[in-house]
Amino acid sequence: MKRRPLIAGNWKMHLDSVKARQLAQDLIPAAAARAGNCDVMIAPSPTLLPVVSEEVKDSVIILGAQNVCWATQGAFTGETSPAMLLELGCRMAIIGHSERRHIFAEDDRLINKRLSGALEHGLIPILCLGETLESRQQDQTFKVLEGQLRSALINISIKNPAKLIIAYEPVWAIGTGQTATTEQAQEVHVFLRQLIGDIFDKTIASGIRILYGGSVKPETMAALMSREDIDGVLVGGAALDAESFSKIINYS
Ligand code: 13P
Repeated sequence: MKRRPLIAGNWKMHLDSVKARQLAQDLIPAAAARAGNCDVMIAPSPTLLPVVSEEVKDSVIILGAQNVCWATQGAFTGETSPAMLLELGCRMAIIGHSERRHIFAEDDRLINKRLSGALEHGLIPILCLGETLESRQQDQTFKVLEGQLRSALINISIKNPAKLIIAYEPVWAIGTGQTATTEQAQEVHVFLRQLIGDIFDKTIASGIRILYGGSVKPETMAALMSREDIDGVLVGGAALDAESFSKIINYS
């Protein structure tokens, strides 16, 4: 199955409303130029969503959130509900990012609840998975990833592969300047796709988009995207600069 690439920018806890508005505006032409063959998503921090939403509402850019709660509303201090995100025009939500897992101790059970809540409310989750350097050095990569994927998908059913996105983000490659080699990424993506086939079925596995994230730069894009099972990227640092993210969007 031909999968439509997704180029996603995770803005993390950066920018202010003036800079966010400007960056969103600057990305519109690049995204429009690629609208025929790939999707572009940006995920600003929650306080920046209203201004960015306003900026991109008539463009092809998809708005995403960096996390999401499962409940519609209630006593969940510090959280944002799917309904709140949908009201602002978000269509996707990053879930289980390694910074959530490692700095904020979000565990598999919580990630599973977030994922299930997002799906129930019609937000497309971008489920992030990734092994630490230690796990890789101890040859535990596939075991760790399998554990993360299986627990995130407990009691989840998917009928349409477009409703869920996976992002493989090796922890050792995030913000380090050390991109995984295309062989390392491809090998993991194939493994994850097989596992998805096992958990759901072959149609879901062949249609689901699996992104790579971790020090993606304009220079590393073409090689990554040339690999059969890499269906796009989730970019941190390089997504904060209009010129570099536009180059990433314009990869050939
Ligand atoms: P960097 O591109 O800065 O390594 O960040 C990757 C990431 O965490 C995207 O979610």
